Parts: sequence; structure tokens; C-alpha cells
Amino acid sequence: MTTKREDIREAVRTLDDRRFDLAYPKSVRAVSGTHWTPLKVAVRAAEFLVRGPETRVLDIGCGPGKFCIAGALATGGHFTGVDRRGRLCEVGRALATRAEVSNVEFRHANVTELSFAGFDAFYLFNPFAENLGMAPPIDETVSLSTAHYAEFTSHVARELALAPLGTRVVTYFGACEDIPMGFSCVGSALTSELRFWEKTRFHPDGGPG
Ligand SMILES: C[S@@+](CC[C@H](N)C(=O)[O-])C[C@H]1O[C@@H](n2cnc3c(N)ncnc32)[C@H](O)[C@@H]1O
Repeated sequence: MTTKREDIREAVRTLDDRRFDLAYPKSVRAVSGTHWTPLKVAVRAAEFLVRGPETRVLDIGCGPGKFCIAGALATGGHFTGVDRRGRLCEVGRALATRAEVSNVEFRHANVTELSFAGFDAFYLFNPFAENLGMAPPIDETVSLSTAHYAEFTSHVARELALAPLGTRVVTYFGACEDIPMGFSCVGSALTSELRFWEKTRFHPDGGPG
């Protein structure tokens, strides 16, 4: 099925997940309800993260780009998605091209390879839960383990500990073990699982909160 530019844009405007997901290949669409952010959550989260067109948002574990593309269309901020599954990054890129969204990019990498300097705001939809068996695996292309969970979570916590005051984070589900001390939960919306965080103080050891 070829979904046109206007279909994707209209789906975001009307928060129509079914219509948006039709743009994905069948195998990616099939796991959307479990693994990709619903549009109303994506837009609400992006509105908190983006303070102006200069804001650079990193989606940690972006999948096929649903959050990034919806956020980019809804706010005009710049969205970067990183994912360890190259196939999903390709799907995200193809969709962004089809929707003619220019303020979005996708990087195929493990988040552990990324420094967070250069980003102002971060989104996490429980990206590492697969490693704990708390979410069904998306596919069999990557290795999963509790050691990976600890490694990925610690990297995010370390990078966020270095981030400047005022840095914003949104979490959707998850234990928030990657949110270090110094970040305050300043609100939630739609569901208690959607939490808004802001860095309000430096913590001397930068350790997890
Ligand atoms: C629950 S999905 C969320 C996708 C997207 N953020 C959204 O909200 O629609 C989590 C994604 O994180 C990715 N992921 C898990 N561990 C990762 C890591 N260490 N580095 C980069 N991506 C990772 C997975 O491949 C998966 O696509």
C-alpha cells in the first residue's frame, strides 16, 4: 500500500493511529500497538520537549520513527531517532521522505555509541524492556540480556547526569532507572505512565535517581 504525503500528515493532525500505521510494512504495523507510541501521546510529549524550532530532541530507541515524525510535524523542533535495529531506521527514513518531513533524521546505532551533547531534550518509551522479558521481542535480530539492560540504562543515566540544567525528558512507561538524580518529575498527562521531567539541579555523584 502506498500512503501519500497528505495521508500521513492528516493522520498526525487527527491523531489517527490506524491511518498512520497503514504507511508501515505489515510486519512493522503488526507490533505498533505494543511497541510504537500512540499519536496522542507522541504529540503531547513533543509539545513538552520542544521549546522552539532550535530544540533538538533525541528519541532513544526510535523504532520506525512514529514519535519522531509525529513530533516533527506537530512542533517544528528537530528530531533525531537512534535505533540498534537498522531495518527500523530504514522504515523511518522512507516514511519521513514520503511525508516530506525534513526536520527529522534517523541513526542506526546503539545508544551507547552516542554522546548526548548537542541534544536539548530526550524521549524514552521504555526502550530496554525487551531485555528483561517485560515486553515481547520486536524481532530476533538483536541479542537481549539483563546485562544489556544494565549497560544501556547506565549509559543513558550517565549522559543525562552531564546534561545542562533545564534539560527536558519524557518517559512513557518503564521504571525510569535511567533518570538520574537532579531531574524532577514536573508532571504527567493522559496517563500516569507519561511523565515529564526537567533537570533542576546538579547532583554531585551524577548517579541514578
Ligand atoms: C518500545 S520501542 C519505542 C519506539 C519509538 N521510540 C516509539 O515510541 O514509537 C523501543 C525501541 O528501542 C530500540 N532499542 C532498544 N535498545 C536500544 C539501544 N541500546 N540502542 C538503540 N536502540 C535501542 C528497539 O530496537 C526499539 O525499536
